Parts: sequence; C-alpha cells; structure tokens
Amino acid sequence: MITDDFDYLAPGGRSYTLASGRLSGIKKNSRVLEIACGRGAAACALAEAYKCRVDAFDIDPVMVEHSMETSNKLGFGEFTNFFVKDGRDMDFGEGKYDLVLAEGGALTYIGREEGIARAADLLKEGKCLALTDLIYLRDDVPQPVRDAYEEGVYTYLTEIRYRKLLEAYDFEVVFASMLPQSAWDRYYAQMRRQVMNPKNRFTKDFKDSMMREIDVYYNYGGMFSVGYFYAVARLSRNKRVKPAGEGLRIPLAFSYGH
Ligand SMILES: C[S@@+](CC[C@H](N)C(=O)[O-])C[C@H]1O[C@@H](n2cnc3c(N)ncnc32)[C@H](O)[C@@H]1O
Repeated sequence: MITDDFDYLAPGGRSYTLASGRLSGIKKNSRVLEIACGRGAAACALAEAYKCRVDAFDIDPVMVEHSMETSNKLGFGEFTNFFVKDGRDMDFGEGKYDLVLAEGGALTYIGREEGIARAADLLKEGKCLALTDLIYLRDDVPQPVRDAYEEGVYTYLTEIRYRKLLEAYDFEVVFASMLPQSAWDRYYAQMRRQVMNPKNRFTKDFKDSMMREIDVYYNYGGMFSVGYFYAVARLSRNKRVKPAGEGLRIPLAFSYGH
C-alpha cells in the first residue's frame, strides 16, 4: 500500500490536505473551517503542520467524538474545535475563514451549489475553498454505475460543470487535478476490510451498498465513469473570472466522432 491515510473515509488523504493548506497560504492562527470532517484526520493534519485554528464539524456525533479524542491524544486540542452540525445549516457568520475545506464528497452530502454559495459567504475575500469530490468522467455514465453511487439521492457533475459552478459563485480555480488510482485502491481496500470485519457493527444495507460500489468500480467499468476531483478555488469577487468556454468537454478516445 502506497499511502497510510487510514483515518480518511474517502479517496484523498494527508498529502491533499497539506497541499490545500499550502496553496491557500494558511499560517499560524489562520482560521480554517472543515465541512464533514469524518474522523478528524484532515483537521489534525492542518493543526500540526500550520498551527492554524480549525473549526471542524460533522453530522455524525460518533465521528465528532472520535475526532476530538484523536486531536486531544495527539496534542492538537488547543488548535481544533470539533462540533456536531448539519452542513445544510452553516449559520456561523460571514467572511471569517482563510480556508474552507470540503474533502471526501462533503459538498455532495450537503448539496453542492448551496455548499459552494455558503463557503463563499464564510470566506474572506481572496481566500480558498479546497475540495475533493466525486465527479462523472463522461456524460453517458452507465445505469449500474449511476445506481451504485446513488444518483438521485446525490447529484454529480462533470469536471467542466463543476468548474463552471465554482466560477458562478466567484471562485477562481487556482489548482485542479484528478486523484490517482492509488487513492481509490487505498480507500476501497480499507472499506472492504472494515465491512468484512465482524467487530464493526455496520448495517447490512451499508455493507451491501459498499460491496456493490466496489464491485461496480472494479468489475463493471465504474473506474472509467467516475473520478475524484481535487480543486483549490480562490474567492475572487473583485476580479471577474473569465468563464470556461461553452461546449468544452473532456475528449475520451472512445467518444471521438460522436
Ligand atoms: C465520505 S465521509 C468523508 C469524511 C472526511 N471528510 C474524509 O475525507 O475522511 C463523509 C462524511 O460526511 C458526513 N456528512 C454526511 N452528511 C452530512 C451533513 N449533512 N452535514 C455534515 N456532515 C455530513 C458523514 O457523517 C461523513 O463523516
């Protein structure tokens, strides 16, 4: 295994979190908000590396408790503030953060457009939203893949539409890339191990849907249809961003000529 990001609950990991901190220029005492912090791995990584102040929340109290315990155990308690919150209701003021972090599909869970709009309100001008999120790599995603990733409950964009949405809320993308295959392999290997472990009390529904997702990703072409998008986008209200060209799309070898 190439990475050891086992407290991350999605593709991605510490190196992306630290890159987000670096690209957004945070330093000692900068204010960071993390949406849907999961087990607190990213908040702890930022606190350790930058000595910044991290407010981090999740809807799941078990996640928040785990995050607090980890942070205190590692000695970052004075830098981190974990709390239970639904990200659809981010009612903590305006223009106070130097970085809003939304890793592991946080914006998918809370509603992408509303989440981006709210992040724009919460950030200081010129500061960044950093995200990792699942996207579609093509328009004609097969139905079994759509079903495995619960399209309908959630919505997914292509990269171009994602960029346009960020631009629509005055964000300028300063860095973007797709996560490597190793990030998916680490995540799915870890999830498979966890759902197979009888000590973990996951519901049967969760186990079944995770195993179906893994099967579809590796065996039914999921990996050619979904990707994990990493973007760092700067709030640039005072500087109009030139919008992406109409009809811009990712050319796939097998879609030439259509
Ligand atoms: C795939 S995990 C990612 C966690 C973490 N960001 C990471 O990358 O490891 C998604 C997280 O979103 C949280 N979540 C789901 N819906 C949410 C909501 N409406 N508000 C806040 N957190 C939410 C879940 O409890 C879970 O911890």
